[in-house]
Amino acid sequence: MQTLVILAHPTFTSSVANSTIIEQLKKSGHAITIRHLDSLYTDYTIDVAAEQAALLAADNIVFQFPFYWYSAPATLKNWLDKVLSFNFAYGPEGDKLKGKNLLISITLGGPQEAYTPLGYNHFKVTDLLLPFEQTAYLTGLNYLAPIFTHGCVYIPGISNAKEEVEARARNHAQRVVKLLGELAKK
Ligand SMILES: Cc1cc2nc3c(=O)[nH]c(=O)nc-3n(C[C@H](O)[C@H](O)[C@H](O)COP(=O)(O)O)c2cc1C
Repeated sequence: MQTLVILAHPTFTSSVANSTIIEQLKKSGHAITIRHLDSLYTDYTIDVAAEQAALLAADNIVFQFPFYWYSAPATLKNWLDKVLSFNFAYGPEGDKLKGKNLLISITLGGPQEAYTPLGYNHFKVTDLLLPFEQTAYLTGLNYLAPIFTHGCVYIPGISNAKEEVEARARNHAQRVVKLLGELAKK
């Protein structure tokens, strides 16, 4: 099975969590292609044909990103707006994504208890991801249960130890790799 990871991370060079996850995925032994939107496209111009060709070649699509303001970094939204076009992802001939798997794989700064009705973020992470879930339904993608990890902010001396965040990210990557293994057996 071919897995395409669409990585949206505007400050990847200083990333701890997502860079650890990507490093682990590269070592996983699965056939994984990683497209880092922020290095491919520095001015928001997207090569739509190249992105659609990458999607057509994939069985599994993973959106990998740090949660930014309860959603994805703008580079992924820009990609969605341009790549999921009429007669590709929707419309009378827009069945090109039908049957492929979509996994949302994200890291969050906030703790789990924040994403509860009485917590400071009020809503569940899965609720905040509903626009992605609905996008999957509309485009015929098979929406897999998202994989997400809390407590991923590393600010030296203020928020978490680097080793803690790296360990959480490695555990996150293991869950993604396990899922890819299960999908390959189906
Ligand atoms: C612009 C911005 C917005 C953020 N918004 C959220 C948010 O809505 N919820 C949250 O839990 N964390 C939020 N964070 C924290 C990031 O999710 C966290 O820093 C990231 O997952 C760490 O991954 P990295 O080491 O790969 O950068 C935000 C961070 C930034 C820079």
